[in-house]
This record gives sequence, structure tokens and C-alpha cells, in this order.
Amino acid sequence: MTHLEPKIANAEIPYTGRDFGAISRMVHAHSGICLPEGKAMLVYSRLARHVREASLSNFSDYVELIQKDATERARAIESLTTNHTKFFREDHHFLHFEAEVRPAMLKRLAQRERVRIWSSAASSGEEIYSLAMVLLGTDRREAKAIANSDIALLGTDLSENVLSVGKAGRYPAVAASDIPDKYLDLWAHRRGAQIEIDSTLRDLVRFRKLNLLNPWPINGQFDLILCRNVMIYFDDATKETLLSRLTDHLAPGGYLYIGHSERLIGECASRLRSIGQTIYWKEPA
Ligand SMILES: C[S@@+](CC[C@H](N)C(=O)[O-])C[C@H]1O[C@@H](n2cnc3c(N)ncnc32)[C@H](O)[C@@H]1O
Repeated sequence: MTHLEPKIANAEIPYTGRDFGAISRMVHAHSGICLPEGKAMLVYSRLARHVREASLSNFSDYVELIQKDATERARAIESLTTNHTKFFREDHHFLHFEAEVRPAMLKRLAQRERVRIWSSAASSGEEIYSLAMVLLGTDRREAKAIANSDIALLGTDLSENVLSVGKAGRYPAVAASDIPDKYLDLWAHRRGAQIEIDSTLRDLVRFRKLNLLNPWPINGQFDLILCRNVMIYFDDATKETLLSRLTDHLAPGGYLYIGHSERLIGECASRLRSIGQTIYWKEPA
């Protein structure tokens, strides 16, 4: 019994500090996400439904289940991820991309070179679709030429639930207010209470499940990697390893965008140059 127990003694489903500790260690080992003791009730509220659905009467039995059943473990971890995102979140990155990165990318595409962009904690896709809107721009004819060139945009996440939203490209209509009008008119269409991302963009972006802690089945390097608002959930050792791997996957002359409260740590700091607010550049060798 730990000091967590009095706090959770009234929980409808029996749940102890020991259960929380086991879940927290398991989530950290499989996803890198840290769940400090203050998150004990959040874990309860997010997993109680799973315990009931598994026809179990307490969390201890559920812990046993997720220790041996990888599918249920993945479901539990998905439920414990925080997927908050929105279109054009932290808009300085999209302004930097439009002014500094896009012109050079268009030149390279016109010369039949390839361009690769990766949103590495994509959640439901708003981030990578925002970038795709800026990349394609506001001229339909130019956009068509860009879309037909050697360009690939990849959105990956641990959670299949959010990836399925990204693949469908449908969002509540209220999300339209986050999209600048010049892009909204062209790239999102009203469908009742929802907006639907234009098929040109949906065809351009590939969504794949990928755990940043595991090996990445990715060939080649990227011209731009976004890794925003996921490292906040990781401990320093996990951040350091991740940043080092992301830097390896960045092409010389490529850019890395990270979240507003994140920073570079470890050896990657000597390989990347800070060139703006949470914007890093890998100098060509
Ligand atoms: C708060 S969202 C950030 C979304 C977007 N990048 C943004 O800044 O708006 C964090 C995302 O990271 C994902 N995530 C957490 N741990 C992960 C891991 N180990 N591998 C891949 N994705 C992970 C979560 O599923 C979640 O969708």
C-alpha cells in the first residue's frame, strides 16, 4: 500500500498505488511517456472503461492482462496519450516554412529533385495538413504541379485512433477558424458539421503507425522534420536518443521544428544550428 491509496480508495473499481506504479512503468518502457504520481487519477479515468470491457473487477487483474497481452497493452497506451493538436498551431513554424524553406524546395522540385517532409508525432494530422497547405500554396495550377513532383509528406504517430482521423481528413467545422482564409478556401470543404481536407492533400500525405522508441522502417533522409509537443512527455535520456536519431534522419541543409517548451539536449546540439524560435538547421557538411 502506498500513500496514493487513500486518494483513490473511493474509486468504483479497486485501484492501488501498486497498480498505478506497474502501469506507469509499463507505459514508460513501451512509449517513453512519463506518468508521475500526480497522474494516478488520470490513469484511472482513462483505463476504467478498458477494465470493465475486459470483464475484470479490479485494476490488479488488468495490470496482469496488459503484461501478457500486447494488443490490450497497446490499447491502454493509446488511451494514455495526449493527442491535443490544431491546424497552424505555433504558427511561427508555418511562417518560417513559407518564407525560408518553401521557395528553395520549389526550386529543387522544379529541377526534378526530391523533397521529403516528416511530422513525427502527427496526432490526427492537423500539423502535416497545415504544412501541406503552405507547401501547395494558393494558386491551384502551381499547386497541381507541386503535387505531381517528387514530393512525399509523412505523418506518423503511436496511436492508430488519431491516425485514422488524419487518413479520413475530416474535422469538426470549428477547426476551420484555425486555418488562414487563403488556404481554407482552397484546401478544406464544408461537409455539414465537418470540414474535409481536399483530396489533393489527402493523396499527398501518408499516415503510418510508428513508435518513436522503436526502430524506424524509414529509408533516406528528410528535408524537414517536425517533432513538436511529444518530447515534453519523455525523460531526458529518451529525448537525447530521439533527438540524435532525428538528426541522423535529417538531410544536410534540412530543418527540425520542435515544440515551444522543448529544447535540444545531448550531442545533437553540436550538429544543429539554432536559426529561430525552436527552429534548427543541419548545415551541409
Ligand atoms: C500533443 S500531440 C502533438 C501533436 C502535434 N505534433 C502538435 O504539436 O500539435 C503528441 C502526440 O505524440 C504521440 N506520441 C506519444 N508517444 C509517442 C511515441 N513513443 N511514438 C510516437 N508518437 C508518440 C501521441 O500519440 C500524440 O498524438
